Amino acid sequence: MTEECLEAGRIDELLQPIVDNYRRDSRLLLQILREAQKALGYLPAAALTAIARAVNLPRARVEGIAGFYSFLHLTPAGRYRVLFSDNITDRMLGSVELMDRLCNKLWIERGKVSEDGLVSVETTSCTGMCDQGPALLINGLALPRISVERIDRISEWIQAQVPLADWPEEYFLVADNIRRRDALLSVQWPAGEAIRAAIARGAKAMLAEMKLSNLRGRGGAGFTTYIKWESARRAARRGEQPMRFVVCNADEGEPGTFKDRVLLNSYADLVFDGMTIAGVTVGAGKGLLYLRGEYEYLLPALQANLTRRRQGGLLGGSLCGRPDLAFDIDIHLGAGAYVCGEETALLESLEGKRGVPRIRPPFPVSAGYLGQPTVVNNVETLCKAALIAVNGGAWFAGLGTKQSTGTKLLSISGDVERPGIYDYPFGVSIAQVLGDCGAGRAQAVQVSGPSGSCLATHEFSRRIAFEDVPTAGAFMVFGAQRDMFEVARNFAHFFAHESCGFCTPCRVGTALVANCMDKIANGHGSQYEINEIFQIHRLLHAASHCGLGQSACNALFDTLHKFRPAYERRLRSLDFEPAFDLDQALAAARQMTGRDDPAAHFGLGSD
Ligand SMILES: Cc1cc2nc3c(=O)[nH]c(=O)nc-3n(C[C@H](O)[C@H](O)[C@H](O)COP(=O)(O)O)c2cc1C
Ligand code: SF4
Repeated sequence: MTEECLEAGRIDELLQPIVDNYRRDSRLLLQILREAQKALGYLPAAALTAIARAVNLPRARVEGIAGFYSFLHLTPAGRYRVLFSDNITDRMLGSVELMDRLCNKLWIERGKVSEDGLVSVETTSCTGMCDQGPALLINGLALPRISVERIDRISEWIQAQVPLADWPEEYFLVADNIRRRDALLSVQWPAGEAIRAAIARGAKAMLAEMKLSNLRGRGGAGFTTYIKWESARRAARRGEQPMRFVVCNADEGEPGTFKDRVLLNSYADLVFDGMTIAGVTVGAGKGLLYLRGEYEYLLPALQANLTRRRQGGLLGGSLCGRPDLAFDIDIHLGAGAYVCGEETALLESLEGKRGVPRIRPPFPVSAGYLGQPTVVNNVETLCKAALIAVNGGAWFAGLGTKQSTGTKLLSISGDVERPGIYDYPFGVSIAQVLGDCGAGRAQAVQVSGPSGSCLATHEFSRRIAFEDVPTAGAFMVFGAQRDMFEVARNFAHFFAHESCGFCTPCRVGTALVANCMDKIANGHGSQYEINEIFQIHRLLHAASHCGLGQSACNALFDTLHKFRPAYERRLRSLDFEPAFDLDQALAAARQMTGRDDPAAHFGLGSD
């Protein structure tokens, strides 16, 4: 056997138990690829071939899927793979300088693997630790609160090849940072309490309570939850294995959002109760929790919780002692793709495909996971459903405002003294939130992440509510010292990086916008670029296939209107200015030829 064959033989040997464990099911391809990468270090060509054979898919398709997710890699990464979180709040806390320090200490270039294959250092989109940044991931594990001292220790341990299991536990400690408790975060019920309440009410009465509550989705779009549940309950199941599904969207990829992380860490029973209540109410037998890859560290505790619930009769057949009720939950891990938070992209990803948003209609409630009626809800929405099961819809509707009932979790980060999670009744003013978290002299707040809105000081009397300032939860505060142009530039790069590439306006538009912002940053900007950004914003808004493209220029649009001087002081001229300086590029040639007369300069003495 050649060395190559031996390699292939070894690969097969390592892959067998993985593909068998996932029943060679192509719908579990993403999970198989994740596990395979863990076993092999990366996904070599031979592994893709073997996996394609095992799940009976064309190899090109498997490669296309593996190439889609940023946490999967087809070429070797370092044995220690370091990914710095690159949200603007991480940058404000010095992440760029810390990454440079680590690269210098390890003698490596950012984005490259060290010659001995030991380590690679790169950036990744927001890791959901903005309240305790700067943060990074090492081999998928989260390390918050990175400091100069920690970077120095980390570089020593990597060089000495100390296994991650031997690093001090406190390096991996992710705090909840709960700062304000209201209706949701004060709950201390035992597991299953809310399910029993929902079962006692009965499915129809539970739906009626949901209607009364006027609960709206907490994942961003604010769709009325009861309409979703009722539509799924009425929708016909199809095929040989007719089923309904409940999907919990725990992708939480919007930069600046980390509330679902806290709910999954400390309120997991409420999340699972909520999923189960949705299941028994709409008549679904299966729940799927899609956990973002960055939160992999939460997986063991969540799995252990599911096991406990099965043992305690809170999952599986004869749910809560009722032989006519059955519901179980599986957890699927994502692999670093923000677009997979979009509900139809998430369903594609759950089915083991590239996370490309589907064309709607049909909507998930009628044809979702595997073409079956599916309820997709955010983690927080499902927790709220559990509260409604226990306390009733009228109680819930009595909180917040008429159009925005209940409370809302805010993930607060940036220039504040007390970053963390705040539970507020809807209708709270921006000014009150800023006061509570110790924001000092804030010049701006980015509400609901880069796809949300940027508010300036004259808008701080506005209120968090669907009818005023809607939000999925992110609340990033920028003090007077911050450069709002750089904030918008960071967001522009985020969208260019995260565009799934399916539709041209978004794929090309987000890249063009990021280029325009870089050109302005590099001192070659003009009014031309500003006009371009406005034009692309209109195009993206009107012609993008999904919400990612539609909202990709929101922050730029807002900052251009509200913080125009941050852009204008960088503009060189009113007319077009080339990004490339030809005269500067000829400097080396002038030096080599010993010429520095006017004719050797572009645009000077030559005719
Ligand atoms: C690009 C994009 C990313 C999204 N990311 C998330 C996410 O991480 N979590 C989430 O719950 N909803 C996210 N959404 C919204 C979902 O598509 C969907 O509206 C939501 O999961 C529905 O749940 P809800 O009704 O409980 O809010 C995203 C939407 C878009 C367009
Ligand atoms: S808008 Fe962007 S993210 Fe959405 S489908 Fe088109 S390319 Fe993909």
